[in-house]
Amino acid sequence: MKGQTSKEIIFVVDDEESLREYLSILLAKEGYVVRTFPGGEEALQALHEQTPALVLLDLKMPGMDGLEVLERIKQYDRDIQVIIMTAFGTIKSAVQAMQKGAFHYITKPFEVSELRIQIEKALEFRRLKNENIQLRRQLRTPFENLIGKSPNFLKVLDLVQKVAPTDATVLIQGESGTGKELVARALHDNSPRSSYPFVAINCGALPEDLLESELFGYVKGAFTGAVSDKEGLFRAAHRGTIFLDEIGEISPKLQVKLLRVLQEREIIPLGSTKPVKVDVRIIASTNRDLEKMVREGKFREDLFYRLNVITITLPPLRERKEDIPLLVHHFIQKYSKKNGIPPKRVPKEIMDLFLAYPWPGNVRELENAIERALILSPGDEITWDALPPALLGARKQKEEIPIPPPVLTLEELERRYILRVLEETQWDKVKTAEILGINLSTVYRKLARYGIRVESEHAKMGLQDAKSGE
Ligand SMILES: Nc1ncnc2c1ncn2[C@@H]1O[C@H](COP(=O)(O)OP(=O)(O)OP(=O)(O)O)[C@@H](O)[C@H]1O
Ligand SMILES: [Mg+2]
Repeated sequence: MKGQTSKEIIFVVDDEESLREYLSILLAKEGYVVRTFPGGEEALQALHEQTPALVLLDLKMPGMDGLEVLERIKQYDRDIQVIIMTAFGTIKSAVQAMQKGAFHYITKPFEVSELRIQIEKALEFRRLKNENIQLRRQLRTPFENLIGKSPNFLKVLDLVQKVAPTDATVLIQGESGTGKELVARALHDNSPRSSYPFVAINCGALPEDLLESELFGYVKGAFTGAVSDKEGLFRAAHRGTIFLDEIGEISPKLQVKLLRVLQEREIIPLGSTKPVKVDVRIIASTNRDLEKMVREGKFREDLFYRLNVITITLPPLRERKEDIPLLVHHFIQKYSKKNGIPPKRVPKEIMDLFLAYPWPGNVRELENAIERALILSPGDEITWDALPPALLGARKQKEEIPIPPPVLTLEELERRYILRVLEETQWDKVKTAEILGINLSTVYRKLARYGIRVESEHAKMGLQDAKSGE
């Protein structure tokens, strides 16, 4: 058993007692930990206590059918390998089993050597797959697609990093286009749930009834048109993460149902009375002020507190302008690759406009502007006419409305004029009086009035006075 670190667990599920005993002894000798079960229900129950690496599964058993057991095992954890043991003549269902994710099948009665080989192969496959996931995880620098280094954004990254590996419910707040969904994905990708589904749903995009059946699923016949069971997104996200986008939009009725999921960690599909346990991490997002909605009675307070265990608030782009050049560069790379065109330079004046523009649509607006400009600019530089009208409009406004010069009062004009003449005459008050056409005493009066203190402020004046006094 190469590469095996700890003893691997194998479940044997077969209604035939003698076969169970035989396999149990054989596999224990090979160094595996073996547990045997007479039927599917018992084996599925045991999954909650212990995760086997492999299940040897009989197809034909009284009680739960082998194919169904297989499906449930795979639903629970698709990394558990399953080898089907089937009697001769049931090849058709064996093929079906392969389609449902079984690793292989062997026909009874089988040679021990054949079984050994299949078990080794299945376990080796599982090890390689796990190694692969590990490697990929190591290669990926965490949060590499969350671009930004401004203090405001680094605070967010720090929180994301702390919260990601936990199971805590997270509420992500922020204006439209600030990266709420991106952060939700980063939380999932950097959590132990990352190899399980990330399921996102926009709660604002569906009418109430549809949203309800999408989330919770239904049983056949729950309403007209429910011709078969529907799993629903909570179950589809089993062991993964569900992202409830625009949570502020959900109706009061769904708020109640959601509160129940958060409290009990179970759902009741439409038309059913049986609660179903769900193992999902919940991340919600909103661009509305939920606290205000609570105060206004539009959002349940208890639900708010359940969702609001950890809040991540994304700053609008205008509050992290330092990140704009970084993001521009990132999007130029991204869209030149995507569209197969070489990256283009951004002239300084255009970057200045990017920095001055308030970006009401935040990162998404910037991203769209860059993709558009990259495609529409003819040369190797982004050009003005390739920019979206909103940006150009902002530029025009800036250029066309000149900043009004400060209005001077008559007195201020007089003060400045006197000062200028004084400077030109090298602070000679007699000459100044001559030039201004007023007598000397008026000059002194004006100086006092305008607070021009010639002696202390201007050494030259002192010299001048001394000279004239000689
Ligand atoms: N920090 C970032 N680094 C790189 N790309 C980002 C960043 N923030 C957002 N983006 C990009 O901007 C776009 C919008 O982000 P996202 O969809 O996550 O925003 P949102 O907050 O969910 O918006 P809305 O409220 O409109 O749904 C996406 O293409 C995303 O990849
Ligand atoms: Mg979004």
